[in-house]
Amino acid sequence: MKKIALTLLASLLAAAAAFADEPAEAPAADAQAPVRMITEATFPPYEFRQGTDVVGIDVEICKAIAAELGRGLVVEDVEFDSVLPSLIAGKAELAAAGITVTEDRKMKVDFSVPYVRTGIVLVYAKADPCEDGASAAGKRIGVQNGTTSADYVREQLGQEPEMFDSPASAFAALKQGKVDVVIADIDPAKNLIKGEPDYDISDFLTVEEYAVAIKKGQPELLATVNKVIEGLQDSGRLDEIVDEWTAKADALQSAGEAAE
Ligand code: ARG
Repeated sequence: MKKIALTLLASLLAAAAAFADEPAEAPAADAQAPVRMITEATFPPYEFRQGTDVVGIDVEICKAIAAELGRGLVVEDVEFDSVLPSLIAGKAELAAAGITVTEDRKMKVDFSVPYVRTGIVLVYAKADPCEDGASAAGKRIGVQNGTTSADYVREQLGQEPEMFDSPASAFAALKQGKVDVVIADIDPAKNLIKGEPDYDISDFLTVEEYAVAIKKGQPELLATVNKVIEGLQDSGRLDEIVDEWTAKADALQSAGEAAE
C-alpha cells in the first residue's frame, strides 16, 4: 500500500514537473490570446446574432483592432447595463455596443475617437402618432435598460421609463399595447419597423456619438484603437462596413418576418 502511494506520489511529482516547464512559454501564449470584446447583441446593425455568431459593425471594428494587435477576437454578449461594469472589472479589453459617449461614462472609462454620429428616435404606431419628445411626455415609454434612451426619459421628460432587455422586446410590448411608444437608437429602430407598415419613427431627439470603450489608464491601447478607427474612416472602409452590415441586418429581419 505504502509503495503504491509512493509510486503515485512520484508520478504526480513528475507530472507537476512537466507542467512546471510550461509557464516559461505562458507570456508569449498570453500575448497571442484573442482580444476579448464585450457587447450586447440585440442592436442591429451594430451587433446582432447570425445563428450563434455575434456579428455586425462593432464586431468588424474590433476585428480590425485585434488584427492591428496581431491577435484574434472573441466576443462576449452580456446585458447592456453590464457592458461597462464588465469592462471595468477586467473581463474584456474592448467594449463596443453602439455605446454613446456621455460625460457620466467618460468618468468611468476611456473612449476612442467616435466612429458614428447618430441619435435616438421615437418608435410609434401610425394610428397613435408621437413625433416629438413633448408628445411622449406622460405616456408609457419603453426603452432598453441602461441606455441613453432611459436617460432621456428620466432627464428630459422627468418620468420613469418601462425597461426592456432589448429594443426588440420594447417594440414587442408596443405592438401588444403594453407601452405607448418606444425610444431607441435610430438604426436598431429602423431595423425594427422594417416591414411593419403600421409603425414609424420620429426625427432625432438627440445627437449622440458612438465610440469604443476601454478601461482607463491604457494610453497605448487607446492610441492603437484610435489609429485603427481613423484608418477605417480615412480609407472609406468604415462606410463599406456600415453599408454591408446594415444590408445584412435588414435581410435577416426580413427573413425573420417570413418565418413568423
Ligand atoms: N447608444 C445607446 C447607449 O449607449 C444604446 C446602446 C445600446 N447598445 C446595445 N448594444 N444594446 O446608451
